[in-house]
Amino acid sequence: MVKEDQINQEAKVWSSTSICRLLDPESMCPSSQPDRGNGCSTGKGGSEEMVKTFKAKDLRITPATIFKAKPDPNNLVFGTVFTDHMLVVEWSSEFGWEQPHIKPFQNLSLHPASSALHYSVELFEGLKAYRGHDNKIRLFRPELNMDRMYRSAMRITLPAFDKEELLQCIQQLVSLDKEWVPYSTDASLYIRPAFIGTEPSLGIKRPSKALLFVILSPVGPYFSSTSFKPVTLWATPQYVRAWQGGTGDCKLGGNYGSSLFAQCHALEKGCQQVLWLYGEDHQITEVGTMNLFLYWINEDGEEELATAPLDGIILPGVTRQSILDLAREWDEFKVSERYLTMGDLTSALEGNRVREMFGSGTACIVCPISDILYKDQMMHIPTMESGSKLAKRILDKLSDIQHHQLQVLKTSGLQNCELIRNRPDNESTAEVEEHKMSSAAITQLSAVVAELRYAVDCLLSLKALKGLPSATLGSPG
Ligand SMILES: Cc1ncc(COP(=O)(O)O)c(C=O)c1O
Repeated sequence: MVKEDQINQEAKVWSSTSICRLLDPESMCPSSQPDRGNGCSTGKGGSEEMVKTFKAKDLRITPATIFKAKPDPNNLVFGTVFTDHMLVVEWSSEFGWEQPHIKPFQNLSLHPASSALHYSVELFEGLKAYRGHDNKIRLFRPELNMDRMYRSAMRITLPAFDKEELLQCIQQLVSLDKEWVPYSTDASLYIRPAFIGTEPSLGIKRPSKALLFVILSPVGPYFSSTSFKPVTLWATPQYVRAWQGGTGDCKLGGNYGSSLFAQCHALEKGCQQVLWLYGEDHQITEVGTMNLFLYWINEDGEEELATAPLDGIILPGVTRQSILDLAREWDEFKVSERYLTMGDLTSALEGNRVREMFGSGTACIVCPISDILYKDQMMHIPTMESGSKLAKRILDKLSDIQHHQLQVLKTSGLQNCELIRNRPDNESTAEVEEHKMSSAAITQLSAVVAELRYAVDCLLSLKALKGLPSATLGSPG
């Protein structure tokens, strides 16, 4: 088969973008129930009836006047550096959604009783913008993140919004800060939407005020170019990440804060992540903040790639869905969403039937697993013995798609998410280099301007200090 045919075959994989059922808001906060002071009587779970959403066409932009220096993409620590702008959209039950506003990156001002701070009325998302080999910037299957964000909002009783309008606002934000998308196929721009209840009272109720905001942070490579480093897990029934009827299938802040203690305990045990188990039979669910895959010869002697089904306790990862789609398209082995227990894993290891285990998520794409500490026994997983062939193949394929390495990728998902067309398709390498140089010059210039401003500020404050009585100058704190 010629390369183009192969690519078009692969492209079909991405035509389906809906991965999961919508939660039924009726079942969360039925309107037939009397209002017990929890704010539920006027609506369903999330306030879906108020889909008078904000619109991207109403976006107001207040550009930054100070531009920060861009960091070296090779020395980035995850989530520590932020771009020049952010998106904010306020909502209240009284006035509905306000105009979306892109403004200079700044601190939030919150009422101290805000429900996000006391009751974790909060959700977040995580996706990335990638600079392709063609110098265009793309988001990877962002509709799946918007779907998940909407479901999280319904689950935590935050108001409904139009997913497409939000996506368009995010695209404008990334466009404005496009020079922050690293000129590197190892690095990317992490997009962090968050949605918080700002109800300014201590009653535990559906918030009457909320704030949606999006911040951007350049991130470096998860693995260095030479190492595909496996992790060791602590499998324990001592802590439970999610349970039936709970919120594990939504990206709510509360799920994560409450998992930190177990993560610290895993580190004390000499492991890097927790392997989250569930139920009497120790079902294998997720690993740290990743979905989990087992590539093995199953009980029936079949070659199989398996991951836990979306039964309410598993987060429907975008990467998980993409791996399932890819592997089903390859059609080389059985691909299953099925229950797996520690018992299944132990007997497969004894029978030499395990080939690879790996986590999956936006940050790393895939993360190989080499050992699992379970019931005080260290079990070796032979992922690296084969050079983690399948995990590596998936990593390469997905990262090629994200960086548009495949020349003629025609997919609905990816076409939709093309964000910025910086240059014509036939742009020469020289032009890209020139562009890189000019953006480096802009960065340097911004740094000089920032330093000059700082110097002027210092002079002005010196001048102001001179006018103050000496006691003020000398007093501590
Ligand atoms: C619990 C959990 N599982 C899985 C994932 C992976 O999801 P995605 O592939 O969408 O990044 C995440 C991502 O943060 C997560 O928090």
